[in-house]
Amino acid sequence: MLIVANWKAYVEDIAKAKKLFAVSKRLANTTRSTLVIAPPAPLLGALAVNNKSKVAFSAQDISATTGGALTGEVTAQAYATVGATYAIVGHSECRAAGDTDTIIAEKLSRALAHDLTPILCVGEHERDGEGRYLSFVREEITAALSILTPKERARVIVAYEPLWAIGKTAANAIGPNDLAEMVLYIRKVLAELLPGKSSSRSLVLYGGSVEPTNIRDLAASSSIDGFLIGHASVDPVTFPLLVKNLA
Ligand code: 13P
Repeated sequence: MLIVANWKAYVEDIAKAKKLFAVSKRLANTTRSTLVIAPPAPLLGALAVNNKSKVAFSAQDISATTGGALTGEVTAQAYATVGATYAIVGHSECRAAGDTDTIIAEKLSRALAHDLTPILCVGEHERDGEGRYLSFVREEITAALSILTPKERARVIVAYEPLWAIGKTAANAIGPNDLAEMVLYIRKVLAELLPGKSSSRSLVLYGGSVEPTNIRDLAASSSIDGFLIGHASVDPVTFPLLVKNLA
């Protein structure tokens, strides 16, 4: 299983960042899951340089550009140079701040150009009775992968994060059956977009109010490959519990 801890802007001081990193390093030595942490950019830089642990690092977002006179932008290359190996792209919180399908497709290209494995976030705003949420997710994936070569498409991890389930509690997360349905659907969409059988290797993650109480059921009932975790990943007690409950 792949567990990605998206620290968002919850962590703002280096002492807390170091503590959470230490927790993840210990966990990584005892779990069979792969742990990836996504700290805010300066904290990622401080922790990832000279990282010899089994914990990998992800950018929370990257610039769609190749750098230049762009105040505030952090490029894929800048992340790669300090040791990041993944990049979250198209998170709903970034989409809400202006990321369009075109920008997201560019960001995927930038990530791949610098060997950052992209974690593409998709997910509907709300559920409806007619299954429109399925075509919404299909369109997000199709638009994001549009400019990539077939080989590049095969390197993208898809994280299904329905907006209605983000930032709540396990009681408000998706149910195991609905998750199983969506994971199958995403795999079908990927099979259409990727050549031959290469989509069978594509990883699909779930994010949205994953907590120690629901992670095991969500994992057991679907063909999910891992989780993208927000608030539960920045608590030094809850996060290890969550990883242990999955095992
Ligand atoms: P929560 O786990 O806080 O719902 O956040 C999910 C998420 O957005 C991870 O990227």
